[in-house]
Parts: sequence; structure tokens; C-alpha cells
Amino acid sequence: MDKFLIRGGNVLNGSVRISGAKNAVLPLLAATILTDEPITITNVPNLKDVNTLIKLIAGLGVTISYEGDTVKVDTSTLQNQFAPYELVKTMRASILVLGPLLARYGQAKVSLPGGCAIGSRPVDQHLKAMEALGAEIEVEAGYVHAKVNGRLKGGEVVFDMVTVGGTENILMAAVLADGITTIRNAAREPEITDLVNMLNKMGAKITGIDTDTLVVTGVEQLHGCEHAVVADRIETGSYLAAAAITGGKVRTTHTDPDLMEAVLDKFEEMGAEVTRGDDWIELDMLGKRPKAVSFRTLPHPEFPTDMQAQLMAVNAIGRGFATVSETIFENRFMHVPELCRMGANIQVEGNDAVITGVEKLQGAPVMATDLRASFSLVIAALAAEGETVVDRIYHIDRGYENIVTKLQALGADIQRIKGE
Ligand code: EPZ
Repeated sequence: MDKFLIRGGNVLNGSVRISGAKNAVLPLLAATILTDEPITITNVPNLKDVNTLIKLIAGLGVTISYEGDTVKVDTSTLQNQFAPYELVKTMRASILVLGPLLARYGQAKVSLPGGCAIGSRPVDQHLKAMEALGAEIEVEAGYVHAKVNGRLKGGEVVFDMVTVGGTENILMAAVLADGITTIRNAAREPEITDLVNMLNKMGAKITGIDTDTLVVTGVEQLHGCEHAVVADRIETGSYLAAAAITGGKVRTTHTDPDLMEAVLDKFEEMGAEVTRGDDWIELDMLGKRPKAVSFRTLPHPEFPTDMQAQLMAVNAIGRGFATVSETIFENRFMHVPELCRMGANIQVEGNDAVITGVEKLQGAPVMATDLRASFSLVIAALAAEGETVVDRIYHIDRGYENIVTKLQALGADIQRIKGE
């Protein structure tokens, strides 16, 4: 297994180009199933999760090519509606093919994803929403069997909690349904907006964009289009956190400051100087030690759970103390014991973590447990004294494109050590 060897102490400085968002491109790829006309998606990040979904879609018989940052999809060759356990178990977002397959072919057999490191993550809301549109759903031997006689029927969907994947799945089902679907308590994440924008380009009729009520007027068919993936706000925030923790100055380019106000506010509260342009954000920590800041994760536009671990790492070396509450996932503090191995002072009680900042962290062997936790350990290592080896970095390859090259260009001392 590959590892990172990181020597801490360098102040990060420079500019980094942000990639397309992992969490946007996955639903966009699934949405290609909704039409038999060709679709071209650009600004696609080269990530393990993207390749997993491409493999799954190719397994349906779809013709799909991936060159540079461009994916071209032709679903006119699609032959089956089956998403096997072997692929779904490696990536939960695979469940996103359920809505489009059902909407276009009237049937789908998709493996249940199962739990993962950050929580149990059920898909009951996805299934309940499909049923509200007239689908018959049976769960048998680990598979969701979904079918409908003719077209799905527009209906009223009310989610019990804000779910990003659930909103995306039902949007993709509703666009080809007969009649009007109203989705209440819908997620408002920028990745949803990106999906709505692409679906509308394909001829869908969705209104209520950026609100928690989406109204979809079903159409009989959709057509091809070209679409560029929205910038990755979490990758952006992660590199800004790397600047903050090392006392450095980093400009993120090809991004969008409007997607991440809550995170930028926290960096300012830490004492960083944050400057924004149309498509760039620069964070200058002015060589200072950041102030520890409290926050609570909540659905967009509030503070995102996907930035919790990275800001926790910055807090670990912050001045003063702070409380971080995780309200989205029940088990998303697994980076805490690893940060403590590096000398952090963090106490966890239920969904709250109380962090008392220390002046310096020390390098140590640590283990990555999930994607964002991995990045938090990497930046903690960049700020620590001495050497850190981060194990199990396959997690990071799922969501950060060219992380080593990007960090090295900012002056980080990081190397990938190839494992067997
Ligand atoms: C998406 O996951 C993201 N993944 C996650 O990104 C992100 O952390 C999460 O949204 C929250 O913002 C992708 O977009 C591919 P949810 P998703 O449905 O859609 C519960 C990363 O690091 N729930 O919004 O799976 C669920 O258990 C990650 O990039 C149900 O109970 O998240 C969770 O507690 C990891 N039943 C909460 O809702 C359901 O049917 C929010 O989950 C669905 C969800």
C-alpha cells in the first residue's frame, strides 16, 4: 500500500489550480444514462472514484471514453440495468445510477452500498422517493430491484433529512416522469445546482434552483449536451487550510468563492487575510498562528462536513480552544486519535470535539481512515516538527487529483512511497 512521507516545517506559498468537483462529476456521469444522445463532460478530475463510476457505466454496455479532462458518453449501446456489488461496494455514489436507469428503462438492479467508515449511510430516502413516483422497490439478497410499468409518475417527495445523494437520485428519476414532481427539503449543495444546470441543458424542466424546493416538470425525452464540471469547493478549502496551518499564502485558481462563504468566514475568523476574485481565492496567514475557531457542520450553505477534518487540523495548532460539532455523520471524528498521536489536544464527546490548540505538532506514523481525514493528516504533517508517514493513502486518491505535485509546487516536502 502506498504511503506519504512528509517532512514538516515548510511554509506553503504559491498558486494551485483547482480541479472539477468529485461530488459533482459523479451525478453528472450518472445523468448521461438519461439520454441516448452523446454527452461530453469537461473539467473532469482524474480520480479513482471517477474511474470506478466510468467502469460501472461501461459495464451497462455504454460506450464511454476518458481522455485528458474530457469524458464522452454514448449510451445508445446500453444493454443492461445492473450495477454489481463488486463495484458498488467500493463507492457508495454508485447508487446514483438507480434513478436514471429506472426513469429511462423502467427497471434497475443495483447493489445496496452498505455502510462506510464515516457512518451507516442508509439509502432509505432514495428508495422512499422512488416509490413516491410509482416505482416498485424490493430489496433482496443485498440488491435493490426497482421497476415501474411504463413511465414514473410525478409526485410529492418530502425528505426526512437533507440528503445530497437522495436529492440527486430523485431529480434524475423525475426529469423523465409523467407530470410534475415537487421535491421538498431538497439539498442545496453547489453540486446539486451543477446537476440541475446540466439536466436543464439536456432539455429537463427544473425550477427552484438553489432553494430547498425543486419543481420538476417531466419531459418525454432528453438530448445530448456539453457541460463543464463546477470547481471543487472542498479541494479549494483544503488547500486554503494547508496555507493556514503552515502560516503561508496560497492562491487557489479556477474556483468559485461564491460556493464556500461559510468556510471563508471561518478562515477570516482565524485571522487569515482572505481575498477573492471572480474565479480565485487567496489566503494569507501572514506568518501568524491561527486562532482556534468553533463551528458546527450543517447542510449547504452552512459549514460543510467535508471540511470538518481539515479545519480541525488547523485548530489543533490554533491559539485558544474551540468546539467542533459534527451533525451530518455519526462517526466522522476518526482523524482525532491520529491527530492526537501527533500531539494534538482534542477531547471527543458524542458529536462534539473540544480542541485546545498546541503550539507545535510532532511528526508520527499515522493512518488515513477516509478521504477528508487523510487530507487533515497531510496538512497536520506539513505543520509538524519532523517526519510523518501517512499510511492508507488510497483514500486520498479517491478525491484529490495530483495532490503530491500540487503540494510540492507550493513548497511542501511530500513524497509518495510506493508499496507492494
Ligand atoms: C454526499 O454524500 C457526498 N458524497 C459526501 O462527500 C458528503 O459528505 C455528503 O454528501 C454530505 O454533504 C458525494 O456527493 C458523492 P447525504 P451522500 O445523503 O449523498 C443520511 C466526501 O468526502 N441519509 O447528504 O451520501 C446519511 O446517513 C464525501 O467527498 C439517510 O439516513 O450524503 C447522512 O447522515 C463523503 N438516508 C445524512 O443523511 C438516506 O437515504 C446526509 O447524507 C440518505 C442519507
